[in-house]
Amino acid sequence: MTEPQATPDFRFHVHATDGHARTGAITMPRGVVRTPAFMPVGTAATVKAMYADQVRDLGADIVLGNTYHLMLRPGAERMARLGGLHRFMRWEGPILTDSGGFQVMSLSALRKLDEDGVTFRSHIDGTSHRMSPERSIEIQGLLGSDIQMQLDECVRLPAPPEAIEKAMRLSLRWAERCRAAFGEQPGKAMFGIVQGGDVPELRVASARALVDLDLKGYAIGGLAVGEPQAVMLAMIETVEPHLPAHKPRYLMGVGTPDDLLRSVERGVDMFDCVMPTRAGRHGLAYTRHGRINLRNARHAEDTRPLDETSACPAARDYSRAYLHHLVRSDEILGMMLLTWNNLAYYQELMAGIRAAIREGRFLAFAEETRAGWERAEA
Ligand code: GUN
Repeated sequence: MTEPQATPDFRFHVHATDGHARTGAITMPRGVVRTPAFMPVGTAATVKAMYADQVRDLGADIVLGNTYHLMLRPGAERMARLGGLHRFMRWEGPILTDSGGFQVMSLSALRKLDEDGVTFRSHIDGTSHRMSPERSIEIQGLLGSDIQMQLDECVRLPAPPEAIEKAMRLSLRWAERCRAAFGEQPGKAMFGIVQGGDVPELRVASARALVDLDLKGYAIGGLAVGEPQAVMLAMIETVEPHLPAHKPRYLMGVGTPDDLLRSVERGVDMFDCVMPTRAGRHGLAYTRHGRINLRNARHAEDTRPLDETSACPAARDYSRAYLHHLVRSDEILGMMLLTWNNLAYYQELMAGIRAAIREGRFLAFAEETRAGWERAEA
């Protein structure tokens, strides 16, 4: 008699392709992630202004957590004593954690980078902390993360090619150390991160070296950091042929609905971005009709909902006038409803993308979706 397999390992299957666009699924013990996937950002053990159940009910299969924030508060060892991030935030599905390098660079004060890692001061209380590739993987393990990211160095663009190359080479050395620290963990994965800024040769060198490490998935980092969309798309096109077709590809920190469509078209499987949640807290609604600024006085007496055809109550059941009032009054419910609407729209977009790829009509779907936005603020 064969032992029943207690938990499935980490597996990725592409079910259909349409041009470079692909749809498939990542299967792991905590659940299945349908791709292309958008991962809502749950930085501090919460997708801001949302209940975990709501996030799941919108169709999100996976959320993202941040090593940087959670190591500072509540602390990685404390999180482990409390049973890990999944139990803590009541999210039973897969969680991907970013490694901390990117947030150290953008949020912390007085950071100092060396070959072995980075020393930085907390943006919360000024205390000094140290992060190495090994410590990043250790923390992600203590959190209980299902997909862990290598520690990397991401440079903002524009930057001199020498600085971009230096960061890319350091990130490669850190990738090897993260891989060694991660070891073999059935059912879990560690992804490498392609760096190389806006220099095609550096992007290719980074991708090739990471592929040699035979990781379970590959992220494209260092994009949406100040460059035009055309440059970002060109870098995806440069990297994509060098990434193995049978492994997931994750574009970090991207993006607008248009960025998602154009990146899926170029072969990306996974995304995360604060855009829908952050915009929701600032009075902006993403809809089928485009982005709507609820702060604008034109909505003050508009009795229409954001989208009467949406399955999301926030989009369907509340008038724009009411949302305008909530936003202008800085009411918490305004942030809650707009975040709910925005994540619903993003997940609906991803579901539409997956269906269109399956049916071989992805480009037509992308065109129709964009045409809908052009009628924005109607
Ligand atoms: N989030 C957005 N871009 C990046 C990146 O380049 N590296 C990491 N670690 N996280 C990111």
